Amino acid sequence: MENISLEKKHAAVAASQLIKNGMTVGLGTGSTVNYFLDALATRIRQENLKIVGVTTSFKTANRAESLGITIIDIDDAPAIDLTVDGADEVDNRMNGIKGGGAAFLMEKIVAHNSNRVVWIIDSQKRHQQLGRFPLPVEIVPFGSGKLIADFKKRHLHPVLRQQDGKTVVTDMGHFIVDLVLNRIDQPYQLGQYLDSRIGVVEHGLFLGVADEIIIGTSSGVRQLKR
Ligand code: A5P
Repeated sequence: MENISLEKKHAAVAASQLIKNGMTVGLGTGSTVNYFLDALATRIRQENLKIVGVTTSFKTANRAESLGITIIDIDDAPAIDLTVDGADEVDNRMNGIKGGGAAFLMEKIVAHNSNRVVWIIDSQKRHQQLGRFPLPVEIVPFGSGKLIADFKKRHLHPVLRQQDGKTVVTDMGHFIVDLVLNRIDQPYQLGQYLDSRIGVVEHGLFLGVADEIIIGTSSGVRQLKR
């Protein structure tokens, strides 16, 4: 297994050990979370663990169910005990950028309704400052051209996300614009600006959201706690 995949797997397996019988678990999205789902499914089988999951994407729901993990609707979950999710970039203050996999709107809703949020990442994702990873912004299709023009005017370098020649549409029916910023000096200010724009549904700045970050290494894990 190549090094990055091994690091992701180490972080995922460590996070799976945090799950206890009876928990409602928020299930993130992405390749690192896929390792977590595998490890969790193994524990469910081997230890007869009774847990239910709340999903952050259709992809995760399908994969979890195919592994035998029960998914319940977020509105039917009295509380989400713990959410395990990936991230695209993490800074020194445990802030992050998410959304490379286009699932950050549901991820943010699940995270904000969770008692505890744990991120699992490989060691390449840690940087002093956020911004190397383009910042995803989920926008309403109607009037998206106007919003993109406004972002351009403000030097936010927006790129409408495309895949296989088609505009990406999220699970919730919106478009994604990636802001190619290279560095974000004032993430809270930028977050506030984006929150204030009509047509912006959500952005991928996750500030003060993670309670714990498990970083996979080639030989094990390192942990950051708030
Ligand atoms: C999904 O929209 C993202 O927020 C993912 O959590 C993030 O992209 C991490 O993905 P990987 O684990 O595949 O790197």
